[in-house]
Formats: sequence, structure tokens, C-alpha cells
Amino acid sequence: MEESRIDEVIGEFVTLKKRGASLIGNCPFHNEKTPSFNVSVSKGIYKCFGCGKAGNVVTFLMEQQQMTYVEALKFLAKKYNIEIVEEQVSEEKKKEEEEKQSQTESILIANAFAQRFFTDYLLHNEKGGIGLAYFKERGFSNQMIEKFQLGFSPESGTELTEAALKAGYQLDILKKAGLTSSKENSKYDFFRNRVMFPIHSMQGKVIAFGGRIMIKDEKAPKYVNTPESDVYVKSKILYGIYQARNDIRKQDECLLVEGYTDVISLVQSGIENVVASSGTALTTDQIRLIKRQTHNVTMLYDGDAAGIKAALRGTDMILEEGMNVRVVILPDQEDPDSFVRKMGSTEFSKYIKDNRKDLILFKTSLFAEEAKNDPIKKAELIRDIVQSIGKVPDPIQRSIYTQQCSERFGMQEQILISEVNKIRRARAKEEHKEDIAPQIEAQDFSANAKVHHEQLKPTIQTVEFVERDIVTALMEYGTWDILLGDDQTESATKFILEDMEGIEFQSQYKFVYDYIKSEYDAGRVHEPNHYTMNTDPEISSMAIKLLTDNSYDGQSPGWWRKFEVVLPDKERTYQKNIISATMRLKQLKNLETLKKVEDMMRDEKDEEKLLSLMGKHKALMEQKKDFAKATGTVIYRPL
Ligand code: UTP
Ligand code: MN
Repeated sequence: MEESRIDEVIGEFVTLKKRGASLIGNCPFHNEKTPSFNVSVSKGIYKCFGCGKAGNVVTFLMEQQQMTYVEALKFLAKKYNIEIVEEQVSEEKKKEEEEKQSQTESILIANAFAQRFFTDYLLHNEKGGIGLAYFKERGFSNQMIEKFQLGFSPESGTELTEAALKAGYQLDILKKAGLTSSKENSKYDFFRNRVMFPIHSMQGKVIAFGGRIMIKDEKAPKYVNTPESDVYVKSKILYGIYQARNDIRKQDECLLVEGYTDVISLVQSGIENVVASSGTALTTDQIRLIKRQTHNVTMLYDGDAAGIKAALRGTDMILEEGMNVRVVILPDQEDPDSFVRKMGSTEFSKYIKDNRKDLILFKTSLFAEEAKNDPIKKAELIRDIVQSIGKVPDPIQRSIYTQQCSERFGMQEQILISEVNKIRRARAKEEHKEDIAPQIEAQDFSANAKVHHEQLKPTIQTVEFVERDIVTALMEYGTWDILLGDDQTESATKFILEDMEGIEFQSQYKFVYDYIKSEYDAGRVHEPNHYTMNTDPEISSMAIKLLTDNSYDGQSPGWWRKFEVVLPDKERTYQKNIISATMRLKQLKNLETLKKVEDMMRDEKDEEKLLSLMGKHKALMEQKKDFAKATGTVIYRPL
């Protein structure tokens, strides 16, 4: 992948013009008239100022051209005549993989056949007319039937299987696809006399079906869905994501509803950025599917108890992913489908705008009536909200929420902060990650310092942030020289790694740090594009994130803001920033050890050991002073 030139690849799809050190064009991910889409050839990455999209050649092909990872690699291999080196795997494993692959493909092809069969039956077979009448009565247009590839499964319960066998599909595959009943010796269709909703993958392949009964029947289930398999994992897909993905990106928002019919009715009314969790409880995998397109989710749920409960659970999960969530509760007895048909799209959109509530407002409004005159209920409500805030990963976002909460309830912010801290500590312990507990304390100190974001960034003193700065510096300036005085220089990589000797990274950036270190130990130091285009997708996506992040190092504006030539400035400051970052990490480690020693002193009964601990403590305190002097920062540790 390092062979590919990002400007050549993206240039095939976007018109790029040279500006300063980089190239610029109209962003293909959102609508714009003035170009804000930047491409850096040396780093091998793109970033849009407008919508924030960033990535490398591969993510570009995947997101903009809807290719799979493998397709993107093949595309590049073809363009640059590169041979794809297949991973060395045993013959047996390879065969197994191939079989699995070809079985998956067969299932997908069988599904595509079934979809065409069901749609054809709906539109052109007399016996499918009843299904068509059903859709018409629900108000679905032909356009929607086509867009969502709706269909009808024959009442006979044999016709699909017969047609498929006749067309050469193997019974075994039809059963594995869930199209034919899996009972031994059976040749009966799995779906019978139901209107059919195909479920598409992100790439538009039919991976499963939902079949709805047309009449009310207490005994039969309302929907029958394809059994789960390697191809169809219910918790990893969202209904409508294929049809909605572009619109979600353009609107930078995703509406989330519960049912198939809700999606279709909204799309028909012109609201196209909508997907459904299909009745099941929302999962983290589903949320991450959305996260690839936008960070903003608006949940539209029924006003009944079940809907509210589902919404409550969903909000917390979305927050945990670091995304923004809002909730619209529809009037009682309405679902998005019935409501949009009643209101029309303009009124419906207005209703959403007027009624959507953020986390705190939503929870407050739910319990406001009860809580108003009952201090105990009020306390419960606040505790509940604080629980949710504790799930937000970003400390800045957390501090915004605590501020809001304190304003709305007239509570002292300090009290809320310490509650949130308590919850986070408890959770960290619970997850057996006691080692990150000290990090959380430090983080929360910075979050409760009431300052603006701009001021906050450079003063954030946490292991996580400092490790991020160091890893970013290693990737960005790894090959640059550090001046040691007396005209002596060494590479930034050597300088940092030797300075960090004996320190284990502990945050989410550890794997990148360890990778850089192992490369260095093997005698390799790389340019930034080695990381942004790394064949390990975890490394490349982390590199893209870090190298396009404007907040990096807090002092100089990120590379992207200064593509209009502010380079000398960076040259002047990068050395200082590297030294300060390594110093800050050592400082934090000093504090950690200090705390440990203090804890041990508290419990130590043996006089002699206590004395030795006190000696250690004194040395650490000296170090602490030195660090404070050197970095110009004093870190207060909450007790
Ligand atoms: P709903 O009962 O709200 O269905 O279930 P709906 O799609 O709005 O259908 P209409 O409007 O009554 O025709 C929401 C979703 O839950 C799943 C389906 O995905 C449905 O769209 N579900 C529901 C099932 O999978 N099985 C069921 O028996 C019921
Ligand atoms: Mn419905």
C-alpha cells in the first residue's frame, strides 16, 4: 500500500488543485461549494475541514466507493501492478477459508435469486397480488417497493425451493441460506404467504429476509426472520443502512427507528437518513456501523413504556461510544410510520426538531413530574443522569454535561463531578482495570478545571493524553533530528525511545508505541505514510486519527490548519514539544509511584520497612519538585 500515491488514487474521483504543501478539492463526503477537502501526499492522508472525514487511500475507496477492504486492496494492486502477498497460511487452513468463502458467496447468490423471485412474484404473479395490495394499502409507492426490493413469498410453500433447484442451486446452500426449511429431507420454503423485506449489507448484498404476516393472527408471529448464520448476524446489521448510508453522511445525522416499515415510510416521505434496529435491542456493533458515517444519532421511539425503556438503554450505549445522542419520543400510540403518514414530511421534520432532547433533557423530562416536589425522586433522577455522564469517554464532553446538569438542577458542579468520578472509578475497578484508576483521577481533575477548551488542551495532564502526544510525535517526526547540543544530533525516535526506557505504555496507544519500538529494535525508522498506510488497519486508522487531529500537542496548530505554509514554526517547536511530552510522562509516572509508596506506608507496620519506604518517598518527592520546575506544571492529585 505504501507504493500507492494518494493524489493519484483520489484524483480519479475528485478534482484536486495544488495549494501550498497540499492538494485541495470539493469534499466527496458532503455537499459544499468552497473546497475544504485536503490531501497530503507526503503523509498519504486526506482530511476534510468541513465534515471532518479523514483517512488513507484504502479508507477512501472503502467509504467513498463502497468497496470492501479486500476490494480496495485489489483495486490498488491492479492500479500499481503490485502483487498482493497473501498471508502464509497452512494449506489446510487455506482450503477451509476458501470453502467458507465460496459458501458465503453461494449463500449471497442464492439470496439474490430469492429476492428477485419474491419481487417478481409480488409484481407479476397473480398469486402475489394480495401482497401488492397489502403494500398499497399501507401506502408504499412503487418506487419504495423497488428501492427496498420488497417481495412476496408464495402460499404454497414450495415454489421458491423448486425454482431455485431448477435454476441449479444446491439444496444444501438453500438450507444454509435459510430459504428452505432446514428439516431433514424437507424441500419446503422457509417463508410462506408473507410480504418480504430483504435485509441488505452495507455493500447492498441481500444477507437475510424479514417476512411479515398480512393478517392479525394471535398464533403466528408477526415477523419471521432468516435464522442467523455466518452471513447474517442480527446484532451486526441495521435495516436500511445500505439505502441510507450516503444520506446519513450528507446530513451528518442518523435517525434510528425500530421497524422495517418505519424506515420505508420515512424514506418515502423524503427523510432518508434513517435505519432500524429491527426490533432487537440496539447493540454496540450496530452503533459502530453508524459511527462510520456520523457521530450524531437521533432515536425516534414510541411513547409506550417499552419504547422509552429501549430508548434509555440505547442512549447510554451511544454515549459510551463517544457519540452524540438525542431522543424524540412520539405521541402515545404512534410509531414513526403512522406518525409521518398522519403529519406529512414537513410537519414531521418540524416535530423532530421541536421535540428532540439531549440526554439530560430527555431523562429530566421523563421524571420531571414525579421529581418536582419529591426530593428523594429528584436525587434518584440526578444520580441516574450522573450514571450516564460517567459513561461518556471524552473528559471534555463529560465536563460539558456536568456543567449543564448543574445549571438545570441548580446543583453545585463540584458535587456532580465528584459523583461522576466515583462512578468511573468504581467501573474501572469492576472491569479489573485497576491500573487505569489513577489515570481517571488525573483526567477528572482536568475536566473539572472550569476553563475553555482551548485553554484546557495544553493543560491536560493524563497518561493517556501524554502517551498520545508521544506516539504522534514518533509517527510524525520519527525520522527528524533532535539537536543535543555541541552540534550533536540523533533521530527523534532514538531520543524518545531511549528516554522512555523502562516505561510501559498503558493507554489505548500502547499497541502503536510497541509497534514503533519493535520496528526501531529491528533497525527501522519510518516516514509518516508508513503508518497511515500500514497494512495493519488498526495501526493505519490510529495513525490517521492522530496525524489529522488538530489538538495534537496543544501548542502549534495541527498540520492541517497550516498547510498554507507555517512550517518553520513547527520546525522550531517540535523539539521542545517532544522533550516536554516525554518529561510529562515521566512526571506522571513519578506521581503514580509516589501514590503507591504512600499507600504502602499507610499500611506498613514494620518499622524498618517503613523507614526504607520513607527514604524512597523523600527521593520521589525531590523528583516531583524537579519535574514540576522543569515542566512548569504542578499536578494536584485528588485524595
Ligand atoms: P413492530 O411490531 O413495531 O413492527 O416491530 P413494524 O415494522 O412497525 O410493523 P407494522 O407497522 O406493525 O406493520 C418492530 C420491528 O421488530 C421486528 C421487526 O424488525 C419489526 O420491523 N419484529 C417484530 C420481529 O422481528 N418479529 C416480530 O414478531 C415482531
Ligand atoms: Mn409499525
